[in-house]
Amino acid sequence: MNPGFHADAASCIGSSVRVPATLLPIKISFTAPRASQTLLDPMAEPKENALMEKIVSLCKRRGFIFQSSEIYGGINGFWDYGPLGAELKRNVKELWWNTMTRQRDDVAGLEATIIMHPKIWEASGHTKTFSDPMCDCLLTKKRFRADQIEPQSGIAYHFIGAVQISEIVRIASERLGEKWGAEYENKILHLVPIMMDQTKKAEEITRLKASDDACDRLLGEVLGNNPKTKQCFEPFAVLLKPGKPPESARKTAIEFYEQRGVTLPTLLGERTEKVENSQRFNPENGSLLTPPVPFNLMFKTYVGPTATEADIAYLRPETAQAIFAQFKNVLETSRQKVPFGIAQVGKAFRNEVTPRNFTFRSREFEQMELEFFIKPDEVIEAISGSVATVPETGHPGKPQPNWGWQAWHQYWVEERVRFYEGIGLDHSTLGFHRQTAAELAHYARACVDILFKFPFSKKDESGNVTGDELEGIAARSDFDLSQHARFSGKPMGVFDDELRAAWGKLPEEKQKELWKRYYDNRKNYLLKSGVESEPAQKQANDDANGLAKGQYIPHVIEPSAGVDRLILALIANAYFEEMTTDEKGKSETRVVMKFHPRVAPVKVGVMPLLKNKPELVKKAEEVRDLLRPWMNVFYDDGGSIGRRYARQDEAGTPFCVTIDFDTLGEKPELKDTVTVRFRDDGRQERMAIGELLNWLLPKIR
Ligand code: GAP
Repeated sequence: MNPGFHADAASCIGSSVRVPATLLPIKISFTAPRASQTLLDPMAEPKENALMEKIVSLCKRRGFIFQSSEIYGGINGFWDYGPLGAELKRNVKELWWNTMTRQRDDVAGLEATIIMHPKIWEASGHTKTFSDPMCDCLLTKKRFRADQIEPQSGIAYHFIGAVQISEIVRIASERLGEKWGAEYENKILHLVPIMMDQTKKAEEITRLKASDDACDRLLGEVLGNNPKTKQCFEPFAVLLKPGKPPESARKTAIEFYEQRGVTLPTLLGERTEKVENSQRFNPENGSLLTPPVPFNLMFKTYVGPTATEADIAYLRPETAQAIFAQFKNVLETSRQKVPFGIAQVGKAFRNEVTPRNFTFRSREFEQMELEFFIKPDEVIEAISGSVATVPETGHPGKPQPNWGWQAWHQYWVEERVRFYEGIGLDHSTLGFHRQTAAELAHYARACVDILFKFPFSKKDESGNVTGDELEGIAARSDFDLSQHARFSGKPMGVFDDELRAAWGKLPEEKQKELWKRYYDNRKNYLLKSGVESEPAQKQANDDANGLAKGQYIPHVIEPSAGVDRLILALIANAYFEEMTTDEKGKSETRVVMKFHPRVAPVKVGVMPLLKNKPELVKKAEEVRDLLRPWMNVFYDDGGSIGRRYARQDEAGTPFCVTIDFDTLGEKPELKDTVTVRFRDDGRQERMAIGELLNWLLPKIR
């Protein structure tokens, strides 16, 4: 149960009082880092979320997560895992791998390279479309994801530019003496833009010089002599929130034009406009932002020494594409048949515009992805007569031969939920988002995001925490394999005996119906992927004719999870504060990390009661060596036993084993028994050393 989402109030455990994190002063929003933080200062996130602050601090203090390159000031969007974090991460990846591959007959593994042929990213669409809209603050240069800017309302003050008119004013006011006044300053302001326009300048000066007005004649003379002025005609605007004085907008604008080299700027062309829910202004200072431009998130590099355009390659932004590219090799070497999956865990890299929320959005992260290949619905119908329908919620049970994409998709959503629940994320800490038709990619049939309610997650209109994405489970049709078939020129279809045999037995009407549906789907895909109408029809025709020969391109269901987000969810979920009060009434707040034993970095702490009693130490070392081949054990003989328990609680160790004098036989009936102490409730049980391993193993696996 996530402490942030406990409904109940503080509860008592022995002498300790638990303070649920709901009672901590949590403010939800985390904002993006300053522009100057692009590379440096990664820890300098705004300190707005007290629980997140505590979690970040614990992660550093206990060695879960450090900022990368900390001794050089850090690098934004990159994180290192310390001793406890590395164990936690390893456990999570291993559990995923075991669940998704070793414990199933229908999934094979893959470990591909990070840098692949750049054509892969053309085929997948990443080269063209893997971008976020990005804009910069015109004043501070801070960079924003345009779609993530909080909408603002207020009065926008627009300016067409600014000029430094002090020199003109000085000469004119000197020469005109007392006659000089605001009226003439306004006149200069009006004249300056005309003077900047070379096509109008001469004519205007002639007009001024011929004027009846002495001041106009003087201005004509001064301006005609080209006094030194600096000017900037870059339009700028500032959004003023209700209640703020117009002067503050002008002050911001003056700052902007000063940055562009106009000293003592006089603002030109001020006008105001009412603005509602606009994402065009920096929420922090009201400054206008640059128009959004797409920013490709792939990290570029060069392969080989020449570093020309032809050598450009990319660090993979997802692990999935290698699976599609190696589909045929895995199929041929693993003795798998559709339906089957290929799983991969590995690094991915995205040059995120605004990495944020600790490790949640990083620039280097790990993914755990499964591509599960299934038969198209037309093939299922040909073989099984009809496609099974399953309810949109709940686990549909053991896979069946008549499952189409919808049943498989539902199956994988539920399997993934079971996985999360199995490592300690209670259902109530999760959220779900089924993508709408408008959100779905053109080739996708459905996508369900599994969310976790992080301390920084926002609330919806009804005040419920919605959560942020841990994993997406997408039904991606045959898009990916089809793209790689087109771009590589290598066939990606499979041959299915069962289909060929079934097709021949179908009534002609049914064959025609299935043929037409398959043809339409293929044609649609090809047209939407930019293939011209005639070749698209020809290709779709060939593909549909393939059904009779038992050939088709598999569709895919993709459960794609982020390791680092899951680690952050597990840490937030495990974080508990307990207030303990000793006999003298002294209170202390302690952190207990209540990790599920399966993911806990250390499974058991082994402790001799005293470190200066060689018999106790010898026995404790025996217990450590008994358990060590099976699990991560931490041997601790430093300080009071209470302190040692507290240290293990903070590390999230679910069990501690203490070797005392009874273990040595002080009470003969307790010889070779130890005390097992439970992290979550402080309970202690006596257990024979010989029983320990068998008692522990099922709890941690
Ligand atoms: N192949 C599909 C794919 O990559 P995605 O939704 O872009 O889909 C899948 O990424 C998962 O990878 C996300 O649900 C998230 O857990 C993780 N992820 C994506 N971008 C991330 C980032 N910048 N930092 C940490 N994790 C990220």
